[in-house]
Order: sequence, then C-alpha cells, then structure tokens
Amino acid sequence: MSELIPRIEMRQIQDDQDVRRFSDFTAAHPEFYEDTGFDQWLETKMVPRLESGQSAGVVVYGDGLEVAGALALYTDPAERSVEFKLFRVAGAYQQSGIGPLLFRAGEILGMRKLGLDPGDSADLQLDTRAENRPATAFFASRGCRAVGKAALYTPGVMDVRFSKDIRLPDDPGHALYRPTM
Ligand SMILES: CC(C)(COP(=O)(O)OP(=O)(O)OC[C@H]1O[C@@H](n2cnc3c(N)ncnc32)[C@H](O)[C@@H]1OP(=O)(O)O)[C@@H](O)C(=O)NCCC(=O)NCCS
Repeated sequence: MSELIPRIEMRQIQDDQDVRRFSDFTAAHPEFYEDTGFDQWLETKMVPRLESGQSAGVVVYGDGLEVAGALALYTDPAERSVEFKLFRVAGAYQQSGIGPLLFRAGEILGMRKLGLDPGDSADLQLDTRAENRPATAFFASRGCRAVGKAALYTPGVMDVRFSKDIRLPDDPGHALYRPTM
C-alpha cells in the first residue's frame, strides 16, 4: 500500500552526521537573517556547541536523509530557561503538522537537559523577525506570549521576543521519566 502521509523521523542530534545535516540544512535556510553574518555564526558558534553537546538539537528527517526540519536550543540551569535558537520546517513539509511536533520535542528536550523533576516548570524563550508573520502566528499558536520588541540583530529591523511557561508532567511514572539508553 502506498503511504498517504509523509514519513518522518524526529531525532535528537546525537552524532556528527546529525550535526552536518543540521548545519547544511540550516545554512540553506537563513530565512530573515542572511545579512546578519548568519553563516559565520552557524559555523563558529552553533555547530561547535552542537558537536560538544553544550547545545541540544533536533533534526526531522523526511524522505530518508532529506531534512524536513531542525531546531537547536540553549539551556541555562541557573535561570531554569530554555531558548530555541533556530526553528525551521522545509517548505515542502510545511503545513503538515511537523512544526507543532518539533516545537513539543524542543520543549521536552530542553526540560530534560535542565534535569527538571516531575511537575517542575521552566521558562521557554525565543525570538523571531517581527515581519515574519507565519512564524509569529505559529509561535502564538504554540502558547507563546510576545513579551517585547527590539532590534536584536540588524539595526532598525525589529524582532519579537516570545516567552512561554513550560512544565513536565506530574506523574513520575510518565514515559518521559524512563531511563534512556
Ligand atoms: C513557521 C513554521 C515553523 C510553521 O511550521 P509548520 O510545520 O508549517 O506549521 P503548521 O502549518 O503545522 O502550523 C501550525 C500552526 O501554526 C500557525 N501557522 C502556521 N503558519 C501560519 C501562517 N502562514 N499564517 C498564520 N498562521 C500560521 C497556525 O495556527 C497553525 O495551526 P492550524 O494549521 O491549526 O491553523 C514554518 O512555516 C517555517 O519553518 N517557516 C520558515 C522558517 C521560519 O520562519 N522559522 C521561524 C522563525 S526563525
């Protein structure tokens, strides 16, 4: 029987191949940040953080090794915060429900990286270009609140900061608390 819905595999970044797929995909999707030294930031800051495990990330594989989406995140245990640094769904895979799945995977990964206990909450932060209406609508649809506007990367070009309270399930027997291999 043929497959009528896209076959995807969502994977926490674990090895060099995941990092390379992530960086190739993200470099090809600078979105609104082409003029901000995006390529250099990616290679000199983001990729080393992923390689060393300092930052976590998720790659969504579409058709085999084709990348359908990606996300990287920073975690700060002192502040109990998670920051999404990049959030991308490839054009051919948009409007298929991957964005909401990737968003939830990032919340869970961030909370687990923080080592939260059952029922604990944390602060999720992210920002996006103010003119990026699909993205601002998407993040609002995921329960994020706009908490301010500032030109974060390019003088005179506004970005919106979003925040969301995120929380692990109360039940210590929940699948999220099972030991991972
Ligand atoms: C924004 C983005 C992440 C959305 O991902 P997606 O998988 O296409 O999301 P979906 O189509 O499943 O949409 C989920 C919800 O987001 C909202 N949304 C998504 N695109 C929207 C748009 N163009 N206009 C309004 N709302 C939108 C809707 O509420 C939607 O829910 P609904 O389908 O029940 O109405 C994706 O389009 C993307 O990666 N864009 C390019 C990169 C980018 O801008 N990244 C974010 C900032 S760095």
